[in-house]
Parts: sequence; C-alpha cells; structure tokens
Amino acid sequence: MSTSKQFDVVVIGAGPGGYIAAIRAAQLGFSVACIDEWANAKGGPAPGGTCTNVGCIPSKALLQSSEHFEHAGHAFKEHGIDVAGLSLNLPQMLKRKETVVKQNNDGILYLFKKNKVTFFHGRGAFAGAADGGYTVSVTGANAESLQAKHVIVATGSNARELPGAPFDEKLILSNTGALAIDAVPAKLGVIGAGVIGLEMGSVWRRLGAEVTVLEGLPTFLGAVDEQIAKEAHKLFTKQGLNINLGVKISKVSAGKNDVTVEYADSTGAAQKAVFDKLIISIGRVPNTNGLNADAVGLKLDERGFIAVDDDCKTNLPGVWAVGDVVRGPMLAHKAEEEGVAVAERIAGQHGHTNFNTIPWVIYTSPEIAWVGQTEQQLKAAGVAYKAGTFPFMANGRARALGDTSGMVKFLADATTDEILGVHIVGPMASELISEAVVAMEFRASSEDIARICHAHPSLSEATKEAALAIDKRSLNF
Ligand code: FAD
Ligand code: NAI
Repeated sequence: MSTSKQFDVVVIGAGPGGYIAAIRAAQLGFSVACIDEWANAKGGPAPGGTCTNVGCIPSKALLQSSEHFEHAGHAFKEHGIDVAGLSLNLPQMLKRKETVVKQNNDGILYLFKKNKVTFFHGRGAFAGAADGGYTVSVTGANAESLQAKHVIVATGSNARELPGAPFDEKLILSNTGALAIDAVPAKLGVIGAGVIGLEMGSVWRRLGAEVTVLEGLPTFLGAVDEQIAKEAHKLFTKQGLNINLGVKISKVSAGKNDVTVEYADSTGAAQKAVFDKLIISIGRVPNTNGLNADAVGLKLDERGFIAVDDDCKTNLPGVWAVGDVVRGPMLAHKAEEEGVAVAERIAGQHGHTNFNTIPWVIYTSPEIAWVGQTEQQLKAAGVAYKAGTFPFMANGRARALGDTSGMVKFLADATTDEILGVHIVGPMASELISEAVVAMEFRASSEDIARICHAHPSLSEATKEAALAIDKRSLNF
C-alpha cells in the first residue's frame, strides 16, 4: 500500500512561476502541494525563489536606498535642502533589505495558507511514474512522498559561472554576493553589462565604489532599441560608470584580498585590472539540479532548459514547466504569466501568455523600459514603420521632479498605425511602460494614445506626446 500523499497538482519550486501557479491551481479547486528548498539564514523556509531572495526584491530595495543616498548627497542641494554630516550606514541598509525580503517570504507562506496550498520545505525530485501520474519525493528535514496527476516544474535558474573563475561570494560574486557586500569596495569590477551588471553596478557606484564594467559585446545593451541604448550609455557614463565594450577576458585570479582580471580591450591591447570585488553577471543557466528528470524521462533541450511547447507542456503527459527553467525571457512576470496559464490549462481552460507584450525594465537611474519591437528589429524584418520621440526635458513634471533625462519613443506601423514598440529611458519608465503594454495588448494605434486625455502635470504626458510625434504634431516640443 502506498504511503504517498495524494494531490491533484504538485508544484516543484516556489519562485514567481511556481508559487503563482500553485495559488491559481488552488483557486481553480485543485488540491495543491508546492515544494521549495530555499532556506533562510536560520534554515527556515524562504519561498519566493531567486526573485524574492536574491533577485528582483532585494536588488530593488538596494537600488531605492542607494538612490536616496545619492539624492541626499547631490540632488537635495538644488531643491534648497542642505544636508550636513551625511553618512552611509551600510549595515542598516542591508538589514532593511533583509527585512523587505522576509516580508515577502512571509507573505507567500500566508498566501499558501489562505489558498490551502500545502507547502513542503525541501528538495522535490521525480521518483517515478505511478497510477497515471507521478511520484515526487521530498527530501529535507521532513521526508515525504507525494503523488499527483499533474506536476509543474518551476525550478528557476542559477548564475552562469565564467570558466576558471568560480563564485566564492567573497571576492568573486554572483548576484547573491553582489547583494550582500558588507563594506563598499573602493574598486568594483563587473563582468557583463547586462541587466544585473548595470543595476548592481549602479547600487555600488552610488554608495561610493569606483565601478568598471567589462562587456564582451561591442554594442551596449544590444537587445534594447539602439537610440535608447545610446542615450542610456551616455547618461551612465556621465554618472561615472566606466563601461568598456568589446573586451575579451583572458584570466581572472583571486588573491587574498583582491581579484585581478586580465583582458584584451576593444583594440586588442592587453590590459590588467585589480579590483577589491568582482561581480560576474554574464547570464543565467536553467536549474534542473536534483530534479531527477531521468527517472521519468523528462526531456531537456540542447541548452539544458526543460523542453516545452508554447503551452509549457513537456514531453511527458501531465508534466508542465514554467519560468526561468524553460525558453523565453528570464523575468519574474513572464514566469507568473506562464504559471497562471498552466494552472488554467490543467483546469481545461484556455490559459494564455502573450510573448509579444512582455515588458522589460532595467531599474537603473534613469530607468529603461520597453515592450514590443525595436527600431533595428523592424528594419531587419523590412517592416515599414513611423517613429515618434519626446524628451523628458520638455515635460513639466520631469522638470519639477528635477529629472529630465531621457525620452519616450513610439514605433508604429506605417500603414495601419498599430503600435509596434514603445521604448523609454527616463524617470519612472517602469511604471510608464504599463500604458504601452495595455495599448499593445488591445492592438491600439498611436493615434489612440494621442487622443487619450493624460493628467497634467504627469510623466505620462511624455507618452502621449511621443505618440503625437508619430505624426509630427507634438504640442510641447
Ligand atoms: P526562481 O525564482 O529561480 O525560483 C525557483 C525556486 O525553485 C527556488 O526557490 C529554488 O530554490 C527552488 N528549487 C529549485 N530546484 C528545486 C527542487 N528540486 N526542489 C525544491 N525546490 C527547488 N526579473 C524581473 O522580472 N524583474 C526584476 O527586477 C528582476 N530582477 C532580478 C535581479 C537579480 C539580481 C536576478 C538574479 C534576477 C532578477 N530577475 C528579475 C529575474 C527573476 O528573478 C527570475 O526571472 C524569476 O525569479 C524566475 O522565476 P522562477 O519561478 O522561474 O524561478
Ligand atoms: P544578461 O543576459 O542581461 O547580460 C549578460 C551580459 O554579459 C551580456 O551583455 C553579455 O554580452 C555579457 N557577457 C556574456 N559573457 C561574457 C564574457 N565572457 N565576458 C564579458 N561579457 C560577457 O544577464 P545578467 O545581467 O546576468 O542577468 C540575467 C538575467 O536575469 C537577465 O537576462 C534578466 O532576464 C534577469 N534580470 C532581470 C532584471 C530586471 O528585469 N530588471 C534584473 C536583473 C536580472
């Protein structure tokens, strides 16, 4: 007789993909278990995955704190606020970040209780197929055996290591170490000018580090609209981020208290730099460690992601996979959308994820946000388009805020005027982009946005003006 606990759905991983899938499945009336192995400093459960523990949430907490510090030191004076004796209390800043993380961990545990999701703290692994479903073992403080007809794998991703430079989280740091440096390094090196490199580089630069970013590609933020990336590069360089493009790293060696990076610069000349700490942020790899995928024959693709179709179905009936462990952008909201859609598909509904309207945000200052196609993508695809831009310099609210850097850019189909992409570098771009996402989801035209009343004075007027600029009829520029 089996001693397995029976559920309709077992979710492995409680990051944004897994915990949201579990809640949605429970809302739809299924009995649901969710297994997650993340442990806090005391060994207790810390659901929320990379995003909550060492990703989105702690990075945004430190970005906010460090921005306050920079404003107090530089921007307040212009507003007529003189600050004397300003100093950094880094332990308090890090403690606040940990408190924010814990609030989110606890929030997820509360949501599990509220929705009657049974949570298991430990590692989940396939133990075999059984009775038209699957057996999943839980190892940890309390070993369990679970059985379910449907399994949703949401095991996320880990930081990619640079060959020859393993993370020690003391001198050579992944995102985990980068969020917990206990004293501001005088010289900080960052390999990879992607999202993490720019966000974490910004945090430590604002707190006083001299930051050097070493990027392998010759172009800055290649996935971002070229005009926006160029503007961002100019602004970040002006802030003091030392960004080196087209470098080739040849050797990274950790000493006792510092790290030496040897590389060829964009001209091919050999260079050597010594840093107090080095962040390596060169992308992330899917995490299928410990899942025992072989036990059931779960197929991975050639890059190690769990192979899924557009509906997140794997090669096994009843086994689904969502989030960073499958193809597509590694974003928390993409993982969440897939989690909801899978739960709804299990319930026989028509779950839906629109990959064309997933917004991207880089939380630097100014922020960069976009949705849809870039100008270079439209050119490459031979699509006839019209472009309209509006600078925040001409926006009243931005002037009042004292943050006039950047612009909003609209791209619309030359014939139908349908919005094909919206790109923003500027204040609160992360919030402004939602209007563009809604518009694109409803397949709006740029004229639709141009005709909608936007509150004055607000940054969103720059969005309306950029839409007006498509027909060269901006009113304030
Ligand atoms: P994860 O969040 O990685 O969660 C997977 C969970 O599964 C983990 O808790 C893990 O412990 C658990 N697990 C794995 N294997 C097992 C197993 N066998 N048994 C039990 N548990 C297991 N995205 C954004 O959209 N916005 C941001 O601002 C943002 N900022 C980021 C900042 C940083 C520094 C980093 C590193 C990432 C950031 N991301 C951001 C990306 C975001 O964190 C990921 O896209 C998101 O966490 C993916 O969710 P997921 O559920 O697929 O996986
Ligand atoms: P990334 O893919 O954004 O950037 C990696 C950068 O490293 C690229 O520019 C790449 O060209 C460069 N690179 C790769 N190998 C290199 C090498 N050997 N030498 C020098 N440069 C090299 O990856 P990152 O920053 O590690 O972040 C991982 C993912 O996490 C992001 O792609 C994103 O999906 C997610 N994330 C999202 C955030 C957000 O939404 N705001 C914030 C942080 C992370």
